[in-house]
Amino acid sequence: MSYEHVLAPIEINGLEIKNRVVRTAHGTNIGQGRITDELIAYHEARAAGGCGLTILEAASVHPTDMGTLWLHEASVVDDYRSLMDRLTPYGMAVFQQLGHLGYEGVTADGGPPWSASELAGPSIRRPAKAMAQDDIDELIDAFASGARWCAEGGLDGVEVHIAHGYLLQQFMSAATNRRTDHYGGSWQNRIRLAREIVGAVREAIGPDVALGVRVGSEAVGDGGVTEHDCAELVRVLADDGLINYVNLTYGSCLRPHKIMGGMHEPPGYELEAAAPVVAAVNLPAIVTGRFRTLAEADQLIAEGVADMVGLTRAHIADPELVAKSAAGREAEVRPCIAGNDGCVGGLNRGRLSCAVNPAVGREQDYPLPDPRPLPRQIVVVGGGPGGMEAARLAAERGHSVVLFEARDRLGGAVRQAQELPTRALLGDICDWQERELNRLGVVVRLNQTADVHSISAVRPDLVVVATGATGAEIPDISTVPKGATAVVDDRFGGYEALGLAEWLATQGLAVTLTTPGRRIAANALLDLVVQPALERLHVLKVEIQTKVDTSPEADLTLTVAKHPHDPLSTDLANAGLTVQVIGDTRSPGTILTAIADAHTIDFGD
Ligand SMILES: Cc1cc2nc3c(=O)[nH]c(=O)nc-3n(C[C@H](O)[C@H](O)[C@H](O)COP(=O)(O)O)c2cc1C
Ligand code: SF4
Repeated sequence: MSYEHVLAPIEINGLEIKNRVVRTAHGTNIGQGRITDELIAYHEARAAGGCGLTILEAASVHPTDMGTLWLHEASVVDDYRSLMDRLTPYGMAVFQQLGHLGYEGVTADGGPPWSASELAGPSIRRPAKAMAQDDIDELIDAFASGARWCAEGGLDGVEVHIAHGYLLQQFMSAATNRRTDHYGGSWQNRIRLAREIVGAVREAIGPDVALGVRVGSEAVGDGGVTEHDCAELVRVLADDGLINYVNLTYGSCLRPHKIMGGMHEPPGYELEAAAPVVAAVNLPAIVTGRFRTLAEADQLIAEGVADMVGLTRAHIADPELVAKSAAGREAEVRPCIAGNDGCVGGLNRGRLSCAVNPAVGREQDYPLPDPRPLPRQIVVVGGGPGGMEAARLAAERGHSVVLFEARDRLGGAVRQAQELPTRALLGDICDWQERELNRLGVVVRLNQTADVHSISAVRPDLVVVATGATGAEIPDISTVPKGATAVVDDRFGGYEALGLAEWLATQGLAVTLTTPGRRIAANALLDLVVQPALERLHVLKVEIQTKVDTSPEADLTLTVAKHPHDPLSTDLANAGLTVQVIGDTRSPGTILTAIADAHTIDFGD
């Protein structure tokens, strides 16, 4: 495929951008507030992979919001120069998003966060300080200084974050702006701060640096900022002659799972709300929304839906998405599976990572594979995501690899999990690993329950045991009558219990989901996929019971727990073989932990 639309260059304010692929802003916390070598390496890998435009993660411009990147001191100019020295050779344009979380911000001095009014943020839950005029003046200056430092540091553009229910939308929304001064009340008053900030930013960077805004419906229904409000706002900013492009998004801190929709959302789920804003102004428009391929982006541009397309998580999963696709190697693109546990969950736990790409944030540790002059013989037992990753890594390093799998198909427990409602995308990563094993010449022996004898016969230098875990599987309910009762007892805390409960309910059973803990799927809460699942379970009338030690009686009871399944490692070690146990076999977890564990293997090279 030629991708003629998405790979065509585009101009923003006279700046030529080599293609229409965008990495929209995404918090990483890789530099913990600063532009470090690690953060530069993260972006450099994606610049080398062919992306056209990167918008750096929301930088907080004022110490009343200590976000993941700080633009508080002029010394940041030198950091930007170092960043641009490394990125410029690849021809990727770099913009910086400027923002303030408002009542969701954590302040440097421990004081109250700032907002339009004295409301508490949905996560932070601390009453905010209603900003006084002095605070507002200080904030406008802070945005202007931050923007000036970006320009002085050599960045190609800046973007003001007026979305996601953060400070500027807290002023815009009648639900969160209770002010009686000239920043509250009427619509014109409520958008005054956004206008003043965008105006001050333009003045600070001059006419030649690109300036855009990120806007989008809060997706909260009555009272929140709608797409029509956003359309009106960008019309005003364009009429003011301030902006050069618009960047669409969706959702807010009140409904964060709408910002980066999980695998339950279809590609393009944000487009309906984006359309009125795209149509409102005659400026280049960027859309996002769980797109993963250059083909999808190409089609959107061909159809005139937008001018540029965000492939943000897709680039976390595979930095080389553009280069591989443009070279006709689409099958080699490592797919984002939209589970959010590495990126969103990782960030919420402290730092960006990725379920399918453990190199994220550690790019400096990943030189290109260097085939060894003396390849070793590696045996992997178990063809789930951990075992396949081990085999893939070993083969990439130039070793000979034999993988034993007891079943007739690779993928392990994922092949069950992908059958649960909305979870089909999980299978994509195993399909990709399978293709890679094939490409790299790994010998795969299906339907073979390996034992010491068959493994020793290969004369391995290292045996990787990845035989997985035992746990609740999709039950055979062919003899269970419709309307029968079922209990799913969540003893693991992952997504699995939610998925099984939803599956049983869609099969016509009356389902109760229980947990001894305070929350169902407690370990997955930060990944922002639990809330949408609970909303679906509510529609399916699944009853939820928490803090339950003994589950109620039912026709069918499933206890969701995982126990390591390791029938081999002791015998292998006793036979004198070098053994490494990984993944669920070592410690039951997720696709993320299984794949990450494979990257800890010492192949002895
Ligand atoms: C870990 C993570 C952090 C994000 N941080 C920001 C941010 O700082 N500013 C912003 O406007 N959007 C942020 N987003 C939203 C993304 O820019 C994008 O809109 C969203 O991921 C949907 O696009 P995608 O489906 O291509 O990933 C973030 C997304 C992720 C996954
Ligand atoms: S963690 Fe999951 S959703 Fe996030 S980028 Fe990686 S594969 Fe995609």
